[in-house]
Formats: sequence, C-alpha cells, structure tokens
Amino acid sequence: MSHTIRRTGDPARQEEFAGRMVRVLNDSCLGYLCSLGHRTRLFDVMARLPPSTSEEIAGAAGLHERYVREWLGGVTVGGIVVYDPADRTYRLPPEHAASLCRDAGPDNLASFLQDLALIGLVEDEVVTAFRDGGGVPYSSYPRFQELQAEETARVYDAALVDAIIPLVPGLPERLASDAGLDVLDVGTGQGHAVNLLARAFPAGRFTGVDMSRSGIAAARDEAERLGLPNARFEVADAAGVTGGYDLVTAFDVIHDLARPAETLAAVAGALRDDGVFLMGDIAASSRLEENLGLPLGPALYTFSVFYCMTVSLGEGGAGLGTVWGRQTALRMLAEAGFGEVAVREVEGDILNVYYVARKGS
Ligand SMILES: C[S@@+](CC[C@H](N)C(=O)[O-])C[C@H]1O[C@@H](n2cnc3c(N)ncnc32)[C@H](O)[C@@H]1O
Repeated sequence: MSHTIRRTGDPARQEEFAGRMVRVLNDSCLGYLCSLGHRTRLFDVMARLPPSTSEEIAGAAGLHERYVREWLGGVTVGGIVVYDPADRTYRLPPEHAASLCRDAGPDNLASFLQDLALIGLVEDEVVTAFRDGGGVPYSSYPRFQELQAEETARVYDAALVDAIIPLVPGLPERLASDAGLDVLDVGTGQGHAVNLLARAFPAGRFTGVDMSRSGIAAARDEAERLGLPNARFEVADAAGVTGGYDLVTAFDVIHDLARPAETLAAVAGALRDDGVFLMGDIAASSRLEENLGLPLGPALYTFSVFYCMTVSLGEGGAGLGTVWGRQTALRMLAEAGFGEVAVREVEGDILNVYYVARKGS
C-alpha cells in the first residue's frame, strides 16, 4: 500500500514533507527538554553563567551532572545552547535566553512547554474519547491550576493594570475613584488577576469565582499573603453568578465552560445596567481557513483537543474549543444580551483579544 502511495505522489514533495516530519519529531522532543530546562531552572542558571562545563552548570544549578550533561547534549544539537569542544563548555546565548528564562516574563516560552507533559498524561483518555465520545475530567490534569497560573500571572503582572484594564475607556479612573467598583472575575483560577486589581485599586470590592477548590484555596492564600481585605474568593459555578457588579471579567475561560451560553447570560444578569463585561479570549477566527497563518495555530488546536474542548465535553458541555473564534464569540455575546461589543487588542499580545461588552440598547 505504501509503495502505491510513493509511486503516485510527487517524489520531491514527498521528500520535502518527510524532512518536515523529521523537524516535527525533533522539535517536539526539544519541547520536552525546554520544559525540563524551565522546571530545573537550568536556563535561568545558564543565562547568568559564562561559558561553563557540565560540572560547573550542574553545580550552579544543584543538579546531578550526568542528567545535566545529557540534557546539554540535546539542547546543543537542537540549536538552543552553543558548545565549545575545545574546553567542553556550553553557553546559552542572550538572544535565546530572552525566550527561555523566567526574567523574560510573558516572553518565556519554555514555561508554556510544561503543558506538553500535562497533556501527555491524558492522551489515553483522549484517545478513548475519540472512540467513545465524552471527554476528560478536570481531575485528570493534576498540575493544571499551577501551570495556568504561572503562565497567565506573567501576563497579568506585565499588562493587567497598565494595558488590559485601560482597554475600557474611563475604567482606570472609575476603579481608582473613592467609591471604587464592584468587580467579579469568573473562572478566576488561582485568582492572581483579582489580587492584582485589589492591590492596585484599594477602594474597590473584588470577587473571584471558580469551581476549582485548589484554585480558590491558592487565590485566598495569595490575598492573605498580600493583605488584601477587599479581595474575596468563592468556589462556585460561573453559570450561576448573580449580583450587581460594575465590571465582570473572564480571562481565557468562556470557551472552556460546559455551559458558556448560560454563563454569558448570567454575567449579563449580574451586571448593573451601565456595567462592563471584559472578556479576554483567544485571538482567532471561527473560520478554519482564516486561521492558517496564526502564529500559534497548531498549539491552539492541540490545547483544544487535549484540554479546552475536552474538559467541556467531559461535563456533557458545549465543547466550544480554544479556537471558537471571534465570530462565534460576538454571536454568543449578542445572544446573551450584550448589545454593544468592541474588540480590542493589547500591543505585543499575539494570543488574546479583549471583548468590551455592554448591555446597551
Ligand atoms: C483556562 S483557566 C483560566 C483561569 C484564569 N482566568 C487565568 O487567566 O489564569 C479556566 C478556568 O475556568 C474554570 N472553570 C471551568 N468551568 C467553570 C465553571 N463552570 N465555573 C467556574 N469556573 C470554571 C477552571 O477551573 C479554570 O480555573
């Protein structure tokens, strides 16, 4: 059979694609080595060291040299680290460190690569779901809350107060006013966004809800650590929120939900008439053909198959998926009662767009 395919295909294109698949294999493996480099802090350590031997690097990182040497071999042949055979030293060029180290903040892509191991844990369950339907429960992703918080905290630290909140005209001033605002964050995870806002705007009253007990426990711990009496957190289903809020936020949440339409309607109901819903979600189109050039396109669909779509389907939910896209988001916001929606972007953020939604007329 494979001989038939070889004879009928264009040999040059076949050769080219085979080369591409070799690169896929190698780059996928490098992803795991980058995840290890992040978790062991080897990238951070190497960024501060001059060209060093594996013994010196292992010593500085407090790790076993044999493992470090094998890892160095992989990241050297993978073009991440530069090796000098004359003195058996390795160095991490600063241009590479800029995408690999904790200091890089939101530009640290090694941190993102920790997700590979997380999704690998559920591959068997995902294969079963392809065959039998259904999905995968949240409980199958043990490090999810921790990794999600690590990834998004870097973005919030860099941009929440200074770039994301100002996407809503007049919002920084209203938040900073003596009266403050009533603010709700749905699907808050470990609550870092809420705690940052509570610290920046002490007159406001901030609430975060999430159905993850471990997420809410971590959020409460951080609020206590930072001494924030104006931040509170509850374990709750976002589809059941009520109240009278001036601002509701949802960051990277709605497409994961089992009941996104009900949640958007509940958010609309929980907002005061002049309130604003600020929804951060993935920058993509609802039309596949318009996503071909997305810089993180394959990563987004992969996260969807292994997590976002699949946890929703695991609860018998809508399974919107990570790449539900702008058109579907706008339609669902309109159906939930948001008559005015502006779509805004933060400069330098290739992953997200922000929907500024009001009930309007
Ligand atoms: C991708 S995470 C985003 C977390 C956080 N907003 C952030 O930016 O890091 C989605 C969150 O939605 C939460 N979630 C999922 N379904 C929910 C529901 N029905 N009600 C409340 N939270 C929910 C998950 O527990 C998870 O913390």
